[in-house]
Amino acid sequence: MLIPLNFGLLDLLWIIPISFYYILPAYFANGGAVLVGKYLPKKPMDFGKSFSDGQRILGDGKTWSGFLGGVLLGTFGGFVMWILVFSISRTTAFVTFGMVDYMITPVFYGLNPFRGFLLGLGALVGDLIGSFIKRRFKKERGAKFPLIDQLDFLLGAYLLSALDIFSIMLYPTYNLVVIWPLIVFGLVVTWAIHRVANIIAFKMNLKKEPW
Ligand code: CTP
Ligand code: MG
Repeated sequence: MLIPLNFGLLDLLWIIPISFYYILPAYFANGGAVLVGKYLPKKPMDFGKSFSDGQRILGDGKTWSGFLGGVLLGTFGGFVMWILVFSISRTTAFVTFGMVDYMITPVFYGLNPFRGFLLGLGALVGDLIGSFIKRRFKKERGAKFPLIDQLDFLLGAYLLSALDIFSIMLYPTYNLVVIWPLIVFGLVVTWAIHRVANIIAFKMNLKKEPW
């Protein structure tokens, strides 16, 4: 993975779509939990139990169906992306998007079905931890909690995807070095997208609050 000499500042802009592509299965998982949790049985994951502070452990917003549906959709989304990427030849992608080869190769090949599962599971576990923290701050279900509301699922997804030892061994430089700007951009882009998506979900009556 040598950086070519004609590398220009503009190439850096690719970080935005690439970081989005990289984290997309976590989005599927997060969105899937909202959809499934809304339409399937609503058994709360904490079984309605309270923590030692008298507040709910997680609250009614975290259901088993939402959790499992989210993980499944994240895994499935990652699987579909993986199939798509392998069905377009890499040359086609390279020519069409003019992407920088050393950047795109590990991202494309780094996304494997296992990573889709890790991103989905990480997203939903991160979301649970976020709700646990909110409840400890005595925030009701759905109450606004800036940053945690938007980023909990993403941090969980990034953390768990670090267990994808296959692509770490295949692309050590990428997974240990190049990954950091992707994460930073992923967090910034997600924060913005999440705000917009939740406003749309609110208007579509899928969510009770616009955040
Ligand atoms: N959801 C679910 N199960 C999950 C995660 C989400 O059923 N494990 C569904 C619930 O219907 C939830 C909705 O998705 O209300 C939106 O998710 P989120 O914003 O994470 O939950 P909130 O209701 O805002 O609750 P909290 O305050 O705990 O974040
Ligand atoms: Mg919420």
